[in-house]
Amino acid sequence: MIKKIGVLTGGGDCPGLNAVLRAVVKTAVCRYGWEVIGFKDGYRGLVMNDYVKFKSGDVSGILDKGGTILGSSNKDNPFSFRIEKDGKVEYKDMSERVIDNVNMHEIDCMVLIGGDGTLTSARDFARKGMKVIGVPKTIDNDLSATDTTFGFMTAVDTATEAIDKLHSTAESHHRVMILEVMGRYAGWIALESGIAGGADVILIPEIPYDINNITNKLKEREHAGKSFSIVVVAEGAKPKDGDVVVSKVVENSPDPIRLGGIGNKLADDLEKLTGHETRVTILGHLQRGGRPVPFDRILSTRYGVAAVEMLNEGKFGMMVGLQGNSINAVSLEDAVGKLKTVDPNGELIRIAKSVGVGFGD
Ligand code: F6P
Repeated sequence: MIKKIGVLTGGGDCPGLNAVLRAVVKTAVCRYGWEVIGFKDGYRGLVMNDYVKFKSGDVSGILDKGGTILGSSNKDNPFSFRIEKDGKVEYKDMSERVIDNVNMHEIDCMVLIGGDGTLTSARDFARKGMKVIGVPKTIDNDLSATDTTFGFMTAVDTATEAIDKLHSTAESHHRVMILEVMGRYAGWIALESGIAGGADVILIPEIPYDINNITNKLKEREHAGKSFSIVVVAEGAKPKDGDVVVSKVVENSPDPIRLGGIGNKLADDLEKLTGHETRVTILGHLQRGGRPVPFDRILSTRYGVAAVEMLNEGKFGMMVGLQGNSINAVSLEDAVGKLKTVDPNGELIRIAKSVGVGFGD
């Protein structure tokens, strides 16, 4: 018999986190009569015992809000937690402290909402006997055990709107416009927004590019009387003979490399090779913010309700996932550590090529 559950949002934020929290709290409190405790700033709140007790009214009016009312962190790994003492930094395994805190609150099970890092810790807590369920989030849509993560469609919407806007100014000034979007290891945002926005060239991490092939594509357009071009590039894209562009290293992050800047490199290279005026827009964290689109609000609500229902059915150590149009429980053991990347021979690449998009390959 479950009486009390805990919830947290970990990793980089994305639109739809609040919609999941709303669905979890409303279902747990109003339908099952459980208590819900929310831990602040991802696993940091669980380690430091920083929490709020949720009433159903606390999650009213947040369905359309970006971010997360609980806060999040993509630095705090409870199994290697950064501690600063007397000016010295050390990393300690705080997982037993987490388990003590969960027991102290008499929490029966935890809902852990996050991407691969958060869900890997969820799996490790499940291995230690904690009753957990995971909910998959990330704008990158790169988790293998679900067709779609919430937040992705909003990021694609934001990027598509940016491409639409760049189109008009590109046309007026006869320029090449480059839009750099997020996507470290997977090019889903670049690919889907590029198709939706009618980009001429899409560059993704899964298909290393040859700059000469992009130049030829742009020249081809010029010869066909098109005086402008749109290039969408994922931050993790790289040339065949080169590497990704690193913008900074965040020392205390489990995944310390932050990418960014490939758009500028590409603009320099292309301007030299084509003689065509080129401008760059880096969309950055705009993709992570703002109101979730209806698809994400609905998916987040489905995930949140399903997570609580699965706990009620005693399905622990699982993650909720979308397969086709149904929500299923997937084992956390199978769900983490495997990225879902774009298949260079897949249908989306084929249809994009069919309508003339170049991938620089
Ligand atoms: O994983 C989500 C993501 O937005 C990536 O697309 C991006 O590379 C990274 O997080 C940025 O992280 P931060 O918010 O730490 O800059």
